[in-house]
Amino acid sequence: MDKILAYLKKNEKRFIRELCDYVRFPSISAQPQHRGDVRACADWLVKHCRQIGIKTTLHPTAGHPIVLARTFDRRTPGRPHFLLYGHYDVQPVDPLNLWKHPPFEPRITNGVLYGRGASDNKGQHFAHLKAVEAYLKTGTALPCDLTLLIEGEEETGGVSLPGFLREHRSDLRCDAVVISDNGIPDLKHPGLTYALRGIAALEVRVEGPARDLHSGLFGGSVDNPALVLCQLLASLRDGHGHLTIPGLYDEVQPLSRFERQAMARVPFSERHYRRLLGVPRLFGEKGFTPNEQRTARPTLEINGLTSGYQGEGSKTIVPAWASAKLTLRLVPNQKPRRVLELVRRHLRKICPPTVRLIVKLGHCGDPYWVSPQGPMARAAMKALQEAFGCEPVLLREGGSIPIVNDFKTILGAETLLLGLSLPDDNPHSPNEKFDLACFRHGMRLGVGLWSRLSANPR
Ligand code: BES
Ligand code: MN
Repeated sequence: MDKILAYLKKNEKRFIRELCDYVRFPSISAQPQHRGDVRACADWLVKHCRQIGIKTTLHPTAGHPIVLARTFDRRTPGRPHFLLYGHYDVQPVDPLNLWKHPPFEPRITNGVLYGRGASDNKGQHFAHLKAVEAYLKTGTALPCDLTLLIEGEEETGGVSLPGFLREHRSDLRCDAVVISDNGIPDLKHPGLTYALRGIAALEVRVEGPARDLHSGLFGGSVDNPALVLCQLLASLRDGHGHLTIPGLYDEVQPLSRFERQAMARVPFSERHYRRLLGVPRLFGEKGFTPNEQRTARPTLEINGLTSGYQGEGSKTIVPAWASAKLTLRLVPNQKPRRVLELVRRHLRKICPPTVRLIVKLGHCGDPYWVSPQGPMARAAMKALQEAFGCEPVLLREGGSIPIVNDFKTILGAETLLLGLSLPDDNPHSPNEKFDLACFRHGMRLGVGLWSRLSANPR
């Protein structure tokens, strides 16, 4: 173990340089013009894994390729096998003018690495990769077989991976999946995340007149699609933050007392949180703490809203149409498809006959929940404690990683979510960052974790 830790220390500068090289790729999976960059990033990763001495293959898909890296030639029967998942694709960078440094020119200031993808998710899985390198390069035997699966479509709702899992089911069968693609409250409170919210996306379009009309000549005699859309959407939530869609809460699993107590142990300062987000006051469903609201309750957000004239100055029109992109975050045991149907039905019912309503259903991901008291979870908690040098907490998260449910249903494996990101890392936002202290703790975690998990009787 000392040999490995010494190796990590000795090579840390190079690791950070390499992580910067990795972040330099604009691997934005959502934007077709970056297709080549996504591919180049995958190629770089393959080359990098091979240099470390891991058997690595690139698997093209209809979308972006999947990188598969194995620390073994052939599975040893009886030896534990773990799957480490990550994604090399990143979110778009706009609005670009809010970035202090260009998003794909990584820069280190005060021990913090800035760049798109630094924490979501390149830095986090790279820490694990470097821990594996330390095992291999010091000639230390790993206590288990390890497969790394790094995909390139996570940020776009990953359509290729479930099929890939099915196709490679026997090779990928494992004792547990490990993911570091989420957060912790601070470095003194590492955590095991045992629940994620699900997601259900839709687009709502309201169509009125055949073309934009003069608002003075016609406004008042025809309905305004933008106003109708605003009224429809505004009515989906009441003043207490409760959603008004009939049936929406039917399947919501209430928070247990154990969970509420565990959540209360997670440090939280309302003032600090408010400042972090830049809001004058918090808002959330009545009867729940902010942490419960954002991780254990269903919510609906408008992600984008478009209608009418967006240019400079004014243009007096009744717009022909208005549209909104929405997502709901869901909790166990809500079913995304069923929820989308409820929303569609409700919108149809409340939409006035003065406009045409078009509802387009989008991608879905089931919520995730795994017992935080199982043997694997406990082993992971132990590893967290050793790596961070303090007592870990149990966390629920509000974000979604839909593939964790496929790991469960297709591979029969539970996922241990061991986040390395901090609350102010700005994922999906301008000035995304990754604290190099998180990188270091992540590498240490990657050193101790596998023996903890492997010692665990199945
Ligand atoms: N890593 C995040 C999800 C996340 C972040 C989970 C923090 C828990 C804590 C992931 O890359 C992500 O952003 N996922 C998308 C999924 C969506 C596009 C289907 C999300 O949650 O919006
Ligand atoms: Mn991510």
